[in-house]
Amino acid sequence: MTNPYAYIDAEVLDIVDETPNIKTFTLRPESGIGFRAGQFMDVTVPGVGEAPFTPSSNHNTKDRLDFTIMSAGRVTKILHNMEKGGIVGVRGPYGTAYPLDLFKSKEVLIVGGGVGLAPLRALLYALFNNVGDYKKIIVKYGSKTPKDIIYKKEIDSWKARAAHIDIEMTVDVGDDTWKGSVGIVTTILRDLNLDMNNAVSIVCGPPIMMKFATFKLLDLGFADKDIYLSMEKNMSCGVGKCGHCRIGPYYACKDGPVFTYDKIKELPNIWE
Ligand SMILES: Cc1cc2nc3c(=O)[nH]c(=O)nc-3n(C[C@H](O)[C@H](O)[C@H](O)COP(=O)(O)OP(=O)(O)OC[C@H]3O[C@@H](n4cnc5c(N)ncnc54)[C@H](O)[C@@H]3O)c2cc1C
Ligand code: FES
Repeated sequence: MTNPYAYIDAEVLDIVDETPNIKTFTLRPESGIGFRAGQFMDVTVPGVGEAPFTPSSNHNTKDRLDFTIMSAGRVTKILHNMEKGGIVGVRGPYGTAYPLDLFKSKEVLIVGGGVGLAPLRALLYALFNNVGDYKKIIVKYGSKTPKDIIYKKEIDSWKARAAHIDIEMTVDVGDDTWKGSVGIVTTILRDLNLDMNNAVSIVCGPPIMMKFATFKLLDLGFADKDIYLSMEKNMSCGVGKCGHCRIGPYYACKDGPVFTYDKIKELPNIWE
């Protein structure tokens, strides 16, 4: 029987400092490990431990994986101290992906907060692979300050991909360099000009941001079933065995992390 916790070695090829506490690691796994946007993997620091992260790269790039990782605790702090050439372990992919087929011909609104833009970057790359299949792609991204914006160097190139892509950012607190909106991400969920009968919204960010973004989307007329949430609950095994990630009757690692709001809205403590 194969060991579900076995990982494959992956070399750290590149490290980009995105913000003072977020880095993007490009890994080259020893053997191919595919994924679909929205799914997650467990990354192991040998001898230290492992933690779940969602690849932020294009799923079409088969020999490399990007992970955009915020330094939060034990494993992530050690990851942040790693250098190019270091070896980590990767296992997965696990869980549900964004259902790209259901998004075809639709207007797609992507709402991200902080490091929550990581899985949404993988989603964007997946949409860009067949950009003509989607009627509109709108990204609304909020971060705490201009220094906390991730993917700064590439966001402009996303806009340039096609005329029907629109990207707007906001920060909670601006500085002298910032000319854009100031306010939490819900403040830029306006003038969307979307056809609510033909639109989907995908949200990822800290729980409090997901909660208020969801309520705003409902106010704007989105149906529960058209709001896709990435529920990043505390996880351990990643394979539906330990029960750490329970959301009511579901295991976030197996039945999620991508859920539509109608599936979980009646369950207790979903925003914690
Ligand atoms: C499916 C999934 C995908 C994720 N994708 C990413 C990603 O792409 N990039 C990224 O930076 N992070 C992501 N996370 C969060 C990441 O897994 C945690 O930050 C990480 O486990 C912290 O590990 P640690 O050992 O460094 O911290 P620990 O020492 O374990 O904990 C540090 C603190 O963070 C809290 N914490 C741990 N895990 C979580 C969690 N899942 N949600 C909220 N708080 C948590 C702990 O309670 C503690 O307070 C994801 C989580 C899940 C479940
Ligand atoms: S993380 Fe163990 S059951 Fe989900």
